Amino acid sequence: MTNGKLNIGIILGSTRQGRVSPHVGEWVKGIADKRGDANYEIVDIDDFKLPFFGTTDGTEPGIVAWSEKVASLDGFVFIVQEYNHSITGALKNALDIATREAWNNKAAGIVSYGGAGGARAAEHLRGIFGELQIAGVKGHPTLSLFTDFENFSTFKPGDVHLDTVNLMLDQVNAWSGALKSLR
Ligand SMILES: Cc1cc2nc3c(=O)[nH]c(=O)nc-3n(C[C@H](O)[C@H](O)[C@H](O)COP(=O)(O)O)c2cc1C
Repeated sequence: MTNGKLNIGIILGSTRQGRVSPHVGEWVKGIADKRGDANYEIVDIDDFKLPFFGTTDGTEPGIVAWSEKVASLDGFVFIVQEYNHSITGALKNALDIATREAWNNKAAGIVSYGGAGGARAAEHLRGIFGELQIAGVKGHPTLSLFTDFENFSTFKPGDVHLDTVNLMLDQVNAWSGALKSLR
């Protein structure tokens, strides 16, 4: 968008059938939109039907569109679910396959979930941020499969997370704005 505000993508990290990530992403977007401080949009990796990195010649429309989408964003909020103590293969592939420069010198926050709040997956993602020159902010809501989901599947987030979501968004916006001068 060209209304002078930053463009922040809320990236859904899982593509699993029956995934809960869209519900988590919409919840974050609802909180974010009330702030009115940036253009927030849900970015669903699944829409791009990305092949596994390196298995094609890289010219598929989905790969090109994915790189263009990432390039169009000033900052990111990653919706991160814990799979075997790490991020999903789908998210790792999406990080690997976009043009590297599309990620560089941008800020990102993480909203994670899992049995331990998705903290182990989030820490793996922070390591990847370093290589992609993404500045990861400190604010980090960690949602528990035990208390923020009914039967580990129906998303019912506690209000206790609202302050942390807003803190994370404050930090993503501040750093996304500052890092524009480097690009
Ligand atoms: C293959 C697989 C591995 C998982 N491994 C973990 C894990 O190591 N730690 C954890 O807390 N939850 C783990 N989970 C539970 C997921 O975090 C939970 O199912 C979550 O809802 C997945 O996100 P999604 O529904 O958006 O795909 C795993 C789930 C799957 C399908």
